[in-house]
Amino acid sequence: MVLFQRCLARALGQRTLGGSQQRNEVRVPGWACTQGARFGSAEPGGCRSHSRAAAGNSGAKERTLIAVKPDGVQRRLVGHIVQRFEQKGFKLVGLKMLKAPEEVLSQHYHDLRKKPFYPLLLHYMSSGPVVIMVWEGHNVVSTSRKMVGDTNPAEAHPGTIRGDFSLHISRNVVHASDSLEGAQREIQLWFNRNELMDWDSCDQSNVSHV
Ligand code: TYD
Repeated sequence: MVLFQRCLARALGQRTLGGSQQRNEVRVPGWACTQGARFGSAEPGGCRSHSRAAAGNSGAKERTLIAVKPDGVQRRLVGHIVQRFEQKGFKLVGLKMLKAPEEVLSQHYHDLRKKPFYPLLLHYMSSGPVVIMVWEGHNVVSTSRKMVGDTNPAEAHPGTIRGDFSLHISRNVVHASDSLEGAQREIQLWFNRNELMDWDSCDQSNVSHV
């Protein structure tokens, strides 16, 4: 609720609470807010999110970033992966195919920049086209992480995407945001606001309490 009010305040051009330099807060534009915002109507300027506000929300309008990595595209797995999220009941609100720019990848994997596998990860992620999507729905961030499975396919359970379609950690087919803050940051990084679609699906009342 707090997050929704902040998004609304930003959309209306009002000042948000507190100092903008506070730690553990992520500035995101209104359209990238993963909860409660009408994405088509918010003005640029951003809202703020933090863990406590996010944790207290039911998450009906939550959004997350899912990417089919180059190995998934090469292996013709895009359709399978899209189908899993559609069948679950989530709503596709953004999708594009692109060769990922190095600058975007380095921001996306900023937290891993000191890991030994980082150079190979960036090389592989830029080795071919990726399909980037934004999915929306109740608890989509945590649910999609479960659907994707463990980072290491050897540990991923059968029935998960990585468990079913991959063998090795360096070629694990798909990415899913790991938190609400991460989702907001990644959606903003990969998409412009006019690339996301705010639409009502006719089965909405059958897949979630709205
Ligand atoms: P990470 O963010 O830890 O996992 P996840 O994708 O499940 O959120 O790592 C990002 C990617 O880095 C991961 O999907 C595959 C790659 N990676 C390796 O290649 N080797 C490794 O040892 C790890 C931990 C990750």
